Amino acid sequence: MAEKGKLIGIGVGPGDTELLTLKAAKVLKTVPVVFSPKSAKEKESIALSIVRPILEERKDYKRLMLVEPIFPMIEDKDELEKIWNSAAEMIAQYLDSGRDVAFITLGDTSVFSTYSYVQKRLIDRYEIETIPGITSFTACAAARNKALVEQNQILTVVPKIDDRLEQILEYSDSIVLMKASRNTSDLEAKIEEKDRKKEIYSVQNCTRENEKMIEGFSNEKPYLTTTIIKFEDD
Ligand SMILES: C[S@@+](CC[C@H](N)C(=O)[O-])C[C@H]1O[C@@H](n2cnc3c(N)ncnc32)[C@H](O)[C@@H]1O
Repeated sequence: MAEKGKLIGIGVGPGDTELLTLKAAKVLKTVPVVFSPKSAKEKESIALSIVRPILEERKDYKRLMLVEPIFPMIEDKDELEKIWNSAAEMIAQYLDSGRDVAFITLGDTSVFSTYSYVQKRLIDRYEIETIPGITSFTACAAARNKALVEQNQILTVVPKIDDRLEQILEYSDSIVLMKASRNTSDLEAKIEEKDRKKEIYSVQNCTRENEKMIEGFSNEKPYLTTTIIKFEDD
């Protein structure tokens, strides 16, 4: 029986191919199977667009198995369970045939990443290596040329504003609002009204060709929009 392959989770960074780690690029130059989830059939995966220049340089590019499972952006937990289970089983089939599989994911592997859902389903059955990537919000701070937190400041990363907003606004020194397209203007107004001195900026498509830095909240919110709130208490 063939020895089992290894699953390699790769964080591909926020957008610029040059922000891939050397380790990620090394794996992508030789791995026989690349899994690149996308949110809809007709959409190109952003993670794939980031690594495409590396893959296309491969002499064996035509033989590379590129698998693009659909991970729709839905909130129905049962439906999501089914999708993640079937993606994990699909990966398991390649691993059982002795092939290594790279699973690419935008930004870092450990921050709101589709990779984590397959990783936890396969961890007890296969060898897994996870290669971290530059996360979007540190790239946004770099684009601003400003630290996110210093000394004993507290950073809070928020995927969706909910009823913990008041506490977050009270106790954080910096707040990263990811998936900013989910924010409502009411909640944004509440943040603006908070009686603490603050700087608010939003970055769209950070490190990509169409990167845009916006002062305050952004009215139009493409999927790759992150807002950073930095309190400047005296
Ligand atoms: C599903 S999360 C993935 C986060 C990713 N794993 C990371 O480490 O950044 C998607 C959210 O990440 C943020 N994001 C990812 N890439 C970005 C970019 N290039 N510019 C701005 N925000 C980005 C946006 O808030 C987006 O809605």
